[in-house]
Formats: sequence, structure tokens, C-alpha cells
Amino acid sequence: MGEKSGGDMAEPQTYLNYIDGRWVPARSGKTFPDVNPAHQDEVVGVFPESGPEDVDAAVQAAERAFPEWRLVPPPSRGEIILKAGLLMKEHKEELARLMTQEMGKVLRETRGDVQEAIDMAFYIAGEGRRLFGQTTTSELRDKFAMSVRMPIGVCGLITPWNFPTAIPSWKIFPALICGNTIVFKPAEDTPLSALKFIEILAEAGLPKGVLNLVHGGPSTGEAIVHHPKIRLISFTGSCEVGSAIAEHCGKVLKRCSLEMGGKNAQIVMDDADLSLALEGAVWGAFGTTGQRCTATSRIFVQEGIFPKFKQAFIERSQGVKIGDGLKEGTEMGPIINEIQRKRVHEYVEIGKKEGARIETGGQFAKGKDLEKGFFYETTIFTDVDPKMRIAQEEIFGPVTCLFPFKRFEEAVRLVNDSRYGLSSSIYSRDVNFAMKAIRDIEAGITYVNGPTIGAEVHLPFGGVKNTGNGHREAGETAIDIFSEWKSVFIDYSGKLQKAQIDVD
Ligand code: UN1
Repeated sequence: MGEKSGGDMAEPQTYLNYIDGRWVPARSGKTFPDVNPAHQDEVVGVFPESGPEDVDAAVQAAERAFPEWRLVPPPSRGEIILKAGLLMKEHKEELARLMTQEMGKVLRETRGDVQEAIDMAFYIAGEGRRLFGQTTTSELRDKFAMSVRMPIGVCGLITPWNFPTAIPSWKIFPALICGNTIVFKPAEDTPLSALKFIEILAEAGLPKGVLNLVHGGPSTGEAIVHHPKIRLISFTGSCEVGSAIAEHCGKVLKRCSLEMGGKNAQIVMDDADLSLALEGAVWGAFGTTGQRCTATSRIFVQEGIFPKFKQAFIERSQGVKIGDGLKEGTEMGPIINEIQRKRVHEYVEIGKKEGARIETGGQFAKGKDLEKGFFYETTIFTDVDPKMRIAQEEIFGPVTCLFPFKRFEEAVRLVNDSRYGLSSSIYSRDVNFAMKAIRDIEAGITYVNGPTIGAEVHLPFGGVKNTGNGHREAGETAIDIFSEWKSVFIDYSGKLQKAQIDVD
């Protein structure tokens, strides 16, 4: 891996875009650094800051590749994806280490991130022999009817930094299996993981021009969204950006699939296995430093066990070992960058002003080896009014709110009092509560006796309300995002038969 992409990753290297099967710099020559969030003076690499002219070159390459790629039999497309998955498996450790270096989350989690992409590759490769449509009867004699899937064309994929390999895999593999070609812009905080992904697909035999990589920030993303030849945008990120994308796509009638924020809640009933619920809450709230769309940012605990849960949760949170994710024993890495860390801290200040009580945390984490990184303490709020901003807005950091409640119905009402609806969880030994939670919680995902994080690739992933715009990534629903339906009628009667008119 890595021969022609620009670097051998020993020292800060200048890496390149991948357009039409060639590694090229931005036409403007502009670059940006990729910094290790655990050691801010360590530059992991230097990447091209792509402008509209680079995006245009990528789109043209994708357009040129499309007529041939769409005709490659899907099982053959699947074989390339399978090879890519096998290569990822072979290089899993190296990919995970690079990811921790540029993104900060602990090695155990970056291994999981790469594994999620491997899972997706293996799952989607098999879709090459499915891509099922329907066959059905006709209302007319000697006539056959069926529906088949068609590719859409050039797809623009824009991905976030919190899952630098997994989330691109949710978009790239389904887009490819359906016969689309791609212009891909990863987050500017995690360009190296994305580049490695592309190298692997190139090595697996993906023809040139089918997948083009352009690095850059918001203006690069905007050039993709606004390019008239891009037929579909798939975006994961903030509601603010997602809504601007939807506005433009709505105006020009471009397809768009959005996966955005969450304010995920865990309910703990009095009858729950307390230590299980506790472990789930710590993992859900502070795993990935709280930087998951699925992170547990609200915890509703029934009043009978609230005091016990609160005390144990605070103690356990204070014991979470913060540090460099590459170091053995670290449980929580840094926040992705200084801007995000300040944003998280601003929310903590807002919470204090609103009158909530900080039980623990609320500061930049200090200590040996923490000075150079964007570390933040595990933070728990109590005395939170559900209407407060900290209870309503996505913070995307290691901050969670703890609320007591009396009755199950009240907990469900509070969980649903949110503009978001991605993930949710209930801890209870009572199957009736579990079934009612599944039925009544407004969310795309509900876990029973598990935390709000941990989705698997063969099930639909996404949420209701402002979390998305009705699509679901992963699972077989991913195929729906990246394909169009065509209905086909084959008349073998040898005569003109008129539907709705010549019916027996
Ligand atoms: C995200 O939070 O952005 O379920 C994706 C999970 C992971 C994916 C999370 N498998 O937490």
C-alpha cells in the first residue's frame, strides 16, 4: 500500500488526490495539515486543499467511467469489493493505528471501525448476486412484468471524521455494487484513513475513474453538492450542513440522503441489572469520547435506583483513563480538534448558566501527557430541565445528562421530547417494558439491555425526525439509496394490448 499516493508515512508527507486512477495534487497547489489530536504538534500528513476545478476533474473522470462500470456484472463488482475487504483484514492493525493517530480514538475502537468496513465489504459483496427486484403477473395475457434496479450515475459522498473508515464503507460499497461511479470527499480531519481506503480499492482492481478522491474542507464539499453532473449526494454530518445540502438538492431535484445528529437516550428501569446498565451508560456516553451520532447523551433512571446509579456512574466515569489512544490501557482519547473541544466546553458553560449541576468533569483534562492534546474530562450533568439546551442539542463530546423519572410512560415521553431520533436503549428485566419501548420510542434504533451504540452493518442504520431525511444506510436499505427502480413489461402476445382497456 501507499506507493503512489505520495507518502511512505515515516515523516509528515504530502499526500495527493486520486482522480481518474492517478495521484495528483490540487491544481491550486494549496494544502492543509492533518494533525494528531493527542499531540497537536505532530503532523500526520499534508493533504491537497481541492477547489472546484479539482472536483470538476473528478466528476469528469467519474462520468467517463460510468458507461463501462454500469455494465460490469454485479457479481464481478462484488468480487472487487470482497478483495478490498480481505485486504483491509490483512492490514487491519496498520489501518487502525493510522486512524488512532489522525483521529484520536483508542486502538480497540479504531480496530472496530476498520472491522465495520470489512463487515460491510463482505456483506455488500454478496449483494452482487442479489440486487433483487420483483417478478409479477400482468393484467394482460401473454405479458410478463418485473422490476429491476438501475444505477444512478455519479454520486457525491461526503463523510465525517468520527468513523473514518466505517462510514465511507457504508456509502462507497453500496454505491459501487449498484454500478455508480463516485466522487468522495472525506472529512479534513481524517484524510489519511480515507486515502488508505482508496489505495486498497485500487489494489483490489477497481477500474480507473470509478472512485475519485478529493480532499478538502467545506468549500470542496460545496463544489461537490453544487456540481450539476453529480446526481446524488450522500452526506453524514451536522444538521446545519445537511439542511443546506437538502435545500440545494431540493431546488435542483438532486437525490440526497442525509444522516445527521442524535440526542440518544438510555432508560434504566428499577428492575434493571444495575451493573449492566452502568457499564452500558459509561460505554455509550464516553466511548469514542462521546463523538458518535449514536452516543448516549441523556440517561433516564427510575427514581428507586437513581441515587445508587448516580453515585456509581460518577465514580466509574471518574475512573475512565484518558490519554493517547495508542497507549495500552487508555479508555478515552482526545476530542478531534480545538474548535470542537471549545464547542463542547461552551455547552458545559451553557449548562451551568441554565442552572444544571455538574457532578463531575466540565474541564479540559489535565495531567501528564495530556498537555499537547485536545483532551476533555468525562462530564455528567444532573438537575437538568429537559427543555435546557444541553438536554436538547447535540454536544458531540464526553458530556451526558442524568435525569430521574417516576413512571415508564414519563420516561418514553421524555425520550421522545427531542428533535432527533437516532438511537435509544432500555435496561429492564420486564419484557413488557422492553416491548413497549420498542413500540413507542421515536427512533431509528432501539436496544434492549444494551447501550445506544453498537449498530451492525446488515441492519438499516438511520433515524427519524431531524436525524435524517427518511433514508437508511447499511442493511439492504443501502441498496435503495444508490439505485433507481425500472419497471419492465414484456409483451409476447404478438399484438397491441392496451393496459386498463383490453382487460379480459
Ligand atoms: C456514528 O455514530 O456516527 O452503532 C456511527 C455505532 C457504530 C456506528 C456509529 N457502529 O455506534
